[in-house]
Amino acid sequence: MMRPSNSLKPALDAIGTAMDQRFDRLLPVPTDGRARLFKGMRHAVIGGGKRMRPLLVVASCDLFHVDRERALRVAVAIECVHVYSLIHDDLPCMDDDDLRRGKPTVHKAFDEATAVLAGDSLHALAFEVLADPATHGDPAARAELVLELARASGPAGMAGGQMMDLAATENDFDLGETTRLQQLKTGALIGFCLEAGAIMGRIPEQARTPLRGYARDLGLAFQIADDLLDVEGDAGKTGKAVHKDAEQGKATFVSLLGVDRAKTQAAMLIDQAIDHLHGYGAEADLLRAIARFAIEREF
Ligand code: IPE
Ligand code: IPE
Ligand code: MG
Ligand code: MG
Ligand code: MG
Repeated sequence: MMRPSNSLKPALDAIGTAMDQRFDRLLPVPTDGRARLFKGMRHAVIGGGKRMRPLLVVASCDLFHVDRERALRVAVAIECVHVYSLIHDDLPCMDDDDLRRGKPTVHKAFDEATAVLAGDSLHALAFEVLADPATHGDPAARAELVLELARASGPAGMAGGQMMDLAATENDFDLGETTRLQQLKTGALIGFCLEAGAIMGRIPEQARTPLRGYARDLGLAFQIADDLLDVEGDAGKTGKAVHKDAEQGKATFVSLLGVDRAKTQAAMLIDQAIDHLHGYGAEADLLRAIARFAIEREF
């Protein structure tokens, strides 16, 4: 039998190409003093990464027959916020990393100021893309996308989780606190990807419960897999340094539970994520495959 991660490869390749094309078009390098900023942004967003969040957006939008071009605009927006979070995560004041997606990090290839501004600019660009009428004909849908991405990115989402991640190195976080940290740091943006399909499809609140359950379990499992790769992975495959979390004293499921129990936990969460989709048929197969890939991946 073909491994699910192999069966997902064509979909991952296609979304990678679609993202590269759109970022290339969105970010032509100007001939003025901003050239370095645009080059830093292009370095970070073009040619790398799994593009799992963009693929989740497309898979969720497909459930509700959303126009593909519009779905790809939302995919661009979430990838902008994700890459901005990576650029800042790698800065010397945070995780201090030199390698990302198999390339030097933005502050290494350029400088710290450029990295800060490239992150700021990608953050803003995400909302510009969402608020544009080309993303959805209904202004209420655009406002809801902006609201949900803002919530998922800010102090009640990714940025808040990043703060907890830094605090966790000085305080002893238990499993409950670590779960909350991971839900904010990683889960919130993944949650947006699934919610986005429902918003684009104008699906009522009460019909969104299965997708929210799926996103919650997937988000946690995805971060556990990332933490496992830091312990057991190969930098040649992950494209980023390994063994950093233990070195920096990060609280992770792996530091708290050990490798074996963390793997069991991640597998259980993925089974649970897939269970949430039981009301859907073959139209949710891509979401099922992404869930399996999230913990089977080597990168
Ligand atoms: C890395 O995310 C940061 C985490 C939230 C764990 P990804 O593993 O999705 O990174 P890319 O986009 O493939 O580079
Ligand atoms: C970063 O988590 C999550 C965000 C950027 C929000 P990590 O610090 O574990 O991500 P990697 O391992 O550097 O990709
Ligand atoms: Mg970090
Ligand atoms: Mg990091
Ligand atoms: Mg990590």
